[in-house]
This record gives sequence, structure tokens and C-alpha cells, in this order.
Amino acid sequence: MKTKLTHPIFKIVADCADEMNVQAFVIGGWVRDLLLDRPCKDIDIVAIGSGIELAERVAQKLGNQYHVNVFKNFGTAQIVYEDYDIEFVGARKESYRSESRKPLVENGTLEDDQNRRDFTINALAIALNKANYGELLDPFDGQKDMALKTIRTPLDPDITYSDDPLRMMRAIRFATQLDYTIEPASLASITKNKDRIKIISNERITDELNKIILAKKPSTGFKLLFDTGLLHHIFPEMTALHGVEIRNGKGHKDNFYHTLEVLDNICKTTDDLWLRWAAILHDIAKPPTKRFEPDHGWTFHGHEDKGAKMVPKIFANLKLPLNEKMKYVQKLVLLHLRPIVLAKSEVTDSAVRRLLFEAGDDIDDLMKLCEADITSKNEYKVQKYLKNFELVRQKLKEVEEKDNIRNWQPPITGEHIMQTFNIKAGREVGIIKNAIREAILDGIIKNDYEEAHQFMLKEGEKLGLKAS
Ligand code: CTP
Repeated sequence: MKTKLTHPIFKIVADCADEMNVQAFVIGGWVRDLLLDRPCKDIDIVAIGSGIELAERVAQKLGNQYHVNVFKNFGTAQIVYEDYDIEFVGARKESYRSESRKPLVENGTLEDDQNRRDFTINALAIALNKANYGELLDPFDGQKDMALKTIRTPLDPDITYSDDPLRMMRAIRFATQLDYTIEPASLASITKNKDRIKIISNERITDELNKIILAKKPSTGFKLLFDTGLLHHIFPEMTALHGVEIRNGKGHKDNFYHTLEVLDNICKTTDDLWLRWAAILHDIAKPPTKRFEPDHGWTFHGHEDKGAKMVPKIFANLKLPLNEKMKYVQKLVLLHLRPIVLAKSEVTDSAVRRLLFEAGDDIDDLMKLCEADITSKNEYKVQKYLKNFELVRQKLKEVEEKDNIRNWQPPITGEHIMQTFNIKAGREVGIIKNAIREAILDGIIKNDYEEAHQFMLKEGEKLGLKAS
């Protein structure tokens, strides 16, 4: 391992630890990521003794400009060095919990500390003192689990998960990110202990959920969340998508697995968390809008509308931001059927113009979502839909070049209407403004000032107004 500890900080920590006569190790995520060849900017140092004192000495050695942030309650200290976040802590006997509010102070040995970590792959340590610099300490065969691609807890999983129930989410998150399997006893323990997730804050749960969503194939994580029962606690609206009902011999598709397919599809075209969330939520209102109509079979009328309305509550429950990101997701959920309708019927200029007007700059993302939404197993249908979407994209481009509707500002302002007819703000201004917008979107008049002005005069006349 010696040759792998290339960063100068390790040499400095090693020198300080030797001077203080304490043992020091780099441990946890950084070692895991080193062995997995993943970049990692968080370095955790464990000292057999005071982590805070070691941090202070390291900062001194680094020079005046380096400051130590001390969290006395937790016995931890932090130095930000270049773009590295280095945390120092004394080895602990008690469970290691990041961000825990409960102070954990009991000192322990390195083995005690490794015992109380979440997974064997996260319990690896590398010694930093001169005597054993670079030696890898792997008491739970974490390396073997890496080779087997297995998530395993160092202790009995019931102990590890009840020490910190967030680890149930972490197990699924690592399994998804790394494409590992959770070993059967651990998986059974998560299923058994799922209710304990309740004691964890929604912020921390959502942090892990977002990491699952940002993985290459998030469906792996969602299936595990569903199968263990965790999803029922953290995101019940999504579990409601699960299942197929059959009536008069007619069934509908399982919207849970369909949603996961759409999500995996969109992940091939975007890294953006919010577009991925839009994929998760695009059919979220299918359960509450589901009807069986004897003549038609299953329908989900208005699910795009209702889905958009459900977004704020879901975001609030999950402690996701209630800002423009939420509005963006709402917009995509609301509009997700529009390009499909377009692709199925004749693609008219005015329908395209309307869609551009409503989607604005998010039109490209909306098209990506719609293409990801094609999950038919019928290759002929898939090709047909894709071809139609290509046509919609082409039309969008043409109309945009011609009419410049994206981020459109009407050529006539309310101010101008009031001045022309010498009227105050009120109903009539709104009527005229709407009429101009509709005429432009329908292609009755061009998107320019002169045509809009003439149209405005006519509309005013209809309302009995006189231009001054
Ligand atoms: N850890 C733990 N139990 C937790 C959280 C963390 O045992 N609930 C331990 C693990 O040994 C982990 C280390 O603390 O490797 C650092 O945790 P953290 O920085 O939260 O995560 P990482 O494992 O580094 O992973 P990532 O950076 O991907 O979040």
C-alpha cells in the first residue's frame, strides 16, 4: 500500500503521529475507494488516542493558514487541505455514526473501531506510523468481499443495523453504486429491521436515496428498497405503483417496474438528478386516477395533471428543495404526455408552437423523458414511436427557428394596450393579451409587433374600445 499513499498529507500525519507517540491510520471510505480505484476527497484518520490533538499538530506543520475545526462533543476535528476534507477522530468502542447528535466518547482500540463500522469494505485501515507505514489492516476480509462484490457487516447484521438504521439505506446504496450483492443474512436483517428507519431523519434518508438515483442503474436500489419493505416507509406513493389488476381478462402494466425502466433509460442520457426525479414521478398519479371502463379497459385520465399536483407534497415529505427544481419536475410531469400525443397524431405547427411555449427551455429534457418512456417490448412499436419523436424534434426545430417561441415574450405588452385604448389595468387588457397570444400560437398571425398591433386594434374594437 505504501506506493499508493502518494498524497503528501499522509507523510505529514505519519511524522506528527510518531512525534506524539500515537498510532494513526487512514480508514473507511478513502481506503475502500483507493482499492476500488474511485476518486475520493474525504480522508478519515483514526488515532489511538486524541484525534483532536493529532489534527492540531498536523495543522501546525502544514502552516499558519490551516485552521482546525474542532467538534469537541464528538471528539472529532477537521482540516480542509487543498480540495481534501480531512477528519481526525480517536478510535471508538461505540458505534461509529456520521453526523450523530449523540456524543460518542469512549476510547477504544483500532479493532474496536473497525468492529463498529458499517460494512467490511468500509472497515479497512492503512497504518501510517513509520514502523508499519502502508500496512493494510483488514480484519473482516473486506478485500475478499470486494472480490466477491458483496456487502457484508463486520458484526451480526442485527447489531450493525440497529446501531444505526441508516445503514440499511447505505447497504442498498453501496450495492447499487458498486453493483454488489447484499449477502443474504444482511438482506434478511434489513427486512426484519425496516421499521427502525423511522428514527432516522428524512434529510439523511433522502441523501442516500439521491445517491441511489444518481447511480448508473438506480432500479437495482429501488427493487431492493421495495423487496425489503423500506420503500413503503420512505416513499409510499411509489410503492402504490406496484402490482397489476385484472378485470374482465384485461390487465394494465405494472407501473412500478415500468417507472424503473424509464428511470434506467433516462440515466443513459442524463446525469441530472432532477430529470431523473421527473422520470420517477412521471406516472406517480396512476394509482389514484386508475379506472376500469368496460368499453376501454384501464384508463389513467388526468394522471399527468394530478401527478404534477402531488409533487410538492412528495418533495416536502422527502425534504427535497421546494424551489425551481421542484417546479421543473412538476412541469415535466405535467407535460410528459404532450409530445406523445403529438407523435401519435398529425404534427401541426400550432401544436408544436404550443408545446414550445409551455415547455420553454425544458423542451429538450421533456423530449428525453418521452423517449425514455417508451418501454414497449414490441420492437416494431418502439421504432415507430422513436421515428415519430424524431419528427416532433424536427418540427420543434423548424418552428423554433421560424417563430422563436422558446422563452417567448409577447410582442405587445399590457402597458401598450392600456396606452393605445386609454384604459386602466383590468379585464379587457387580459382578454386582448390572451387573444394575441392564442392567435400567435395558432399561427393566425406572425410573432411580430406589426401584425400583433393590427390584431390588437381589431380585438379592442370587438370590445367597443377606441384607439386614442
Ligand atoms: N460509517 C459507518 N456507519 C455510518 C456512516 C459511516 O460505519 N452510518 C463509517 C464507514 O466506515 C464509512 C465512514 O464511516 O466508510 C465514512 O462515512 P461517510 O463519509 O459517511 O461515507 P463513505 O463510506 O465515505 O461513503 P461516501 O463518501 O460515498 O458517502
